[in-house]
Parts: sequence; structure tokens; C-alpha cells
Amino acid sequence: MIPSYLQQIPHGKEKGTFLALDLGGTNLRVCEVELLGNSKWTMRQQKYKVSEALKVGEVTDLFDYIAGSVDHFLTEIGTNATEDEKLHLGFTFSFPVLQTALAAGTLINWTKGFECKNAIGKDVVQLLQDALDRKHIHVRCSALVNDTCGTLMAAAYERGDCLCGGIFGTGTNGAYVEDLAKLTKMGYSKEDLEQSKAQGLDFMVVNTEWGAFDNERKVLPFTVFDSRVDRISINPRKQAYEKMISGMYLGEVTRNVLLHLVDSQVLFSGYSTKALNAHYGLDTALMSALEAPFVPNSTESADPVKHIRSVLTSSLGFDDARVTDADCIAAARVSEIVGTRGARFAACAVAATVRQTGGDQADADGREMVFGLDGSLVEFYPRFEQRVRDALVELLGEDVTKRVKIVLAKDGSGVGAALCAQAAQAMETKGASTGK
Ligand code: BGC
Repeated sequence: MIPSYLQQIPHGKEKGTFLALDLGGTNLRVCEVELLGNSKWTMRQQKYKVSEALKVGEVTDLFDYIAGSVDHFLTEIGTNATEDEKLHLGFTFSFPVLQTALAAGTLINWTKGFECKNAIGKDVVQLLQDALDRKHIHVRCSALVNDTCGTLMAAAYERGDCLCGGIFGTGTNGAYVEDLAKLTKMGYSKEDLEQSKAQGLDFMVVNTEWGAFDNERKVLPFTVFDSRVDRISINPRKQAYEKMISGMYLGEVTRNVLLHLVDSQVLFSGYSTKALNAHYGLDTALMSALEAPFVPNSTESADPVKHIRSVLTSSLGFDDARVTDADCIAAARVSEIVGTRGARFAACAVAATVRQTGGDQADADGREMVFGLDGSLVEFYPRFEQRVRDALVELLGEDVTKRVKIVLAKDGSGVGAALCAQAAQAMETKGASTGK
């Protein structure tokens, strides 16, 4: 788990104009966010594609491209800030970073298909600032943010309260608010803690990096399919939990199970297709399509077999004549089982956060625990929240689960980064250690 150095949670009254940069989702995004001070904001944004070559090339090429995108944004789209103001930028960098200050941190390892050279161990803020300075762009990177921390900040700004920000998208991770005294790895003395308390800084947001949970493979019930996915992934033996939960991998696990059933001669009369044989050939979005008929009252539920058959033939290249009705139901059931397993693991992380923060204790009676969640699974995967909630009841009981409020916190990596840049300014004023 990684301290974020974030010790300022928004309440909705924050104001100002900030730049936000978001790397680690589907695209690179540059945004200008205006915080209006009434829990609302406006945003102008531009997406930039990060090519596969940039994802695995020299890290300086990646950062030059990022700086070039900021430059393009400022010249083409413009900014509302005045000429002489140096723009403050919040940088959402959604990879494991050993943060050493609010605006400093070294990359631990890449995830989600990135593998740039000469990046591990480097300070990513420095890499960005150097690239911006090389292009004489008048912007200062004042906060380095994980997308989960950004999500937490965005949800708190909108609602006035949020305990945890979580992402269930391409990757998975969560951040939550912890008592400073419990962050023993920070090595604070009793005096430090007392002083922090007096300044109202006795808590910190923790980036859990829960996607790396059980990389040692001591706890989770791994299957042979998980091992296959891991072995040929770009980062074997890393992100063990993420590989059972997140959007980048669920389709791949499903594909491996389906292939096993094909090879066992119990599915599709023992025949596969080019798409099903291809590494990452079954996109997780396809699982949503396969499972659409299981959503009560959906249009697809009228004739499940017809719908699943059309998905199998149009997206996976199956020959209609080879697919039986039983194949259709079995394929969709495999998808549902893999997805439900993922959602149940996701619930474990939510339940662990509730327990760690004392939300399951008798004296927490009545306390609502807000989880601001974002990511493609939360947004698009059928019945994701329901599956998580069903598992939460098993883990925490009905009463505690009722107090867990799951809200969709969209775009934490944009608005959240702006809020972190704002928090950096505010914390500097309070005298907190932001590292600058
Ligand atoms: C990264 C996290 C990130 C998560 C969600 C994971 O692969 O390690 O830093 O928060 O994806 O984007």
C-alpha cells in the first residue's frame, strides 16, 4: 500500500481553474477543469491516442508525446487562465508509483499493457516536468495522483463525503482514507502525529494497489485458467488479483475456459474459431453482450438463445450450423461464472475496506460508507453492482451492507486530478509536507 500524501478531502466549495492530465486508461486525456465551488465543475477535454509503439518504447518518447499533447491542447483549445498565471496541473498516472511527496514518485512497475523502457525507478513528475520544460510550456505539475485517489476526491467534491475510491475498469485498484497514526511505514513520531492533529492533517488517503494482492499466490483460489492468462501476459506473476477481476483480463479468462471445453469435446462439437484462438480474442465487452439476456426484462431476455447465437457468430466467427442451443446457453453461463467470480473478488476488497475503517463495528451504527466507483465494469457490465452487493451480504451481513453506498463517480481521473492540484495549493498554505 502506498501513501498518497493527500491530506485534504474536498467538501464541494473548492474553486479555481486547473489542468488535468490522465494517463493509464484507454486514452491519454488533457483537460481543463474549472471548479465552480458548488460541488459542480465544467471541463474541456481532448483525447489523444497512445500508440502501441509508444506503450513499449523509450519512456522519454512517451513523455515528449504527453507534453506535445498538452501543448496542442493549450494552443488549439486554449485556456481560461490569465496570461501571467502559471497553470497548475494534476497528473493522474494510474500505475503503481512509490509516492514520496504529493508531486513526486517513482514508478514501481508498469501494468495494463504498458512496458516502456528506462522508466522503472524514475520520478514520473520529473519526467513530465522535464518534457514540459523542453517545450517551454508554462505549466507546473503540482500533484501526482492515482486514478483511485482522484475518484475518491471527485466523489467527495460532489457529495461532501467519500471513504473509498475504486476502479473496476481495464485494471482494478482502490484508495481509502486512513488515520495517519495507522500509516506506520511513514515512521511518524508521537510529536509528528500530535502536530498533524493540531493542523487538522491527521489522516491520509492510501493507494492500496489492491490489484497486486496475493502475487505470492498464497490466498486466492487460482485455477489453471488463471495460470494460463498470467503466463502469457506482459507481466507474469504480477497483478494477480487484478487478473481475476478487471476488464483487461476477464474476457481472456473466459476465452481460456471456453477453449478448454472445446478441447474436451463438450462445446461447439470440438471446433474453435480464429477469434477464439487468438490471444485476447474475446474482449470483455463481449461478455456483456453474452450475458445481456440474463438481465431481467431486457429486450435480449425475450429470446436468449437467438441473441447469444448472433453474438457467437458475428463477434467470434462461429458457423451458425455448428452451434447448438445448448452451446449458446453454456457459453453465456461460462461468461457469467467468470464475471460473477470477478465481482465477488471485487466485493472482498470493498468488505476489507469497510472492516479496516471500522465500518462493521457496533459503534459505527448508522454510519454510511460511500464508495465512489468508476470503470467500464461498474458502468457497463450487467448486474455488476448487484453481484458485488450479494457477496457483501455474505461477507458483512445485511445490516452493514445496507450502509455501504456504491455511487458511480465518473471521471475521477479528470476532475480528481484538478482537485488534487487544488489540494496541493491548500496544503502548502496549511504547511503540510507536499514535498515542494
Ligand atoms: C494500476 C493502478 C490503477 C488501476 C486502475 C492498475 O493496473 O496498478 O495504479 O489504479 O490499474 O486504473
